[in-house]
Amino acid sequence: MWPLLRKWPGPRSRIVRDFHATVRRIGRQVLVRHKPVKMLDVGEGQADWSFIGLLIKALAEDPAGERRLSHKEVMTQINTWLFSGFETTAASLTWLLIELAKHREMQDRLRIELRQLPDDAEYSEIARLPYLHSVVYETLRLHPPIGTTTRIASQDDIIPLSAPISTKSGDLVNTLKIAKGTHVRVPIRPVNTAKEFWGPGAGTFDPERWWNISAEEDGEADVVGGGGSHSGSSGRIMHLAFGDGSRACIGAGVALALMKVVVFVLVRRYAFALPHGAQAQIQAVGEPVARPQVKTRTDSDPAGTAVMMGIRKLMG
Ligand code: HEM
Repeated sequence: MWPLLRKWPGPRSRIVRDFHATVRRIGRQVLVRHKPVKMLDVGEGQADWSFIGLLIKALAEDPAGERRLSHKEVMTQINTWLFSGFETTAASLTWLLIELAKHREMQDRLRIELRQLPDDAEYSEIARLPYLHSVVYETLRLHPPIGTTTRIASQDDIIPLSAPISTKSGDLVNTLKIAKGTHVRVPIRPVNTAKEFWGPGAGTFDPERWWNISAEEDGEADVVGGGGSHSGSSGRIMHLAFGDGSRACIGAGVALALMKVVVFVLVRRYAFALPHGAQAQIQAVGEPVARPQVKTRTDSDPAGTAVMMGIRKLMG
């Protein structure tokens, strides 16, 4: 509401300043260390069509001495990529491994499913694995890395409510009037874990719920697509981790593919356990991307959001 306050030299603005400096530094390293990725099947010879390759190309001057993107624009793209793409997916994968470490029977069941495919399986096959899909979706439901998002009403509107609520003056209302320009916070985490939507086990990690939903609604399209509809506006029961509507996460398909491939590679070969035991209390800390942190830390634990994990290589 008061943009000038953002410049107020408090602890928060220091964090934001340090954050930008760190992202700029990492962004510069990413550009300098990038090794061209050769992609043969894009019909353009050996061109480097990777995201960073394209940004580097956009930085180069054309014969007329013009650049398609300024250095600042390229750094901003890298900032978006690191924050929206990397941090979110990394946090989700960490949560997924923690849940598997807590639920060894689910880990074993998943491993059996993953081992039905050969080491060099195509992604289309990995995407179709139903239990893997359920585990990924359940992780995103229970541990959405982004806890809230905001919308600004573009016109006056009246929102119908599923159950009446009491106003400050004690009146019961069935609708909410939203004036044009109102900032509306969308509480992703509470919606994803509300008992009204998910039943009494809303707070429990239960991949089976996705299994049942897709079986009941014949929603195999999700599993087959490996991304499919992750948005509630389709009318189906969905988590809100990627937001919803026309400004929902643009990278959801990439995120799902990344998570599935990483889990495919890791869980086939390694067993994961929590040294603190399956009962270890792990909480989500930090904003805007929530990371896991052991609640009952001891002096020997690393500070911050590192969660120690025991990893054992499996034979065969
Ligand atoms: C598990 C991983 C991810 C989660 C949970 C996630 C979540 C979200 C959420 C909640 C939003 C805001 C949507 C809204 O306000 O309705 C968003 C937007 C966005 N995400 Fe993701 N994201 C993930 C991965 C990615 C990846 C891998 C990329 C890029 C490759 C990406 C790029 C973006 C971009 C560019 C936007 C802004 C879209 C717009 O405003 O139109 N995200 N994401």
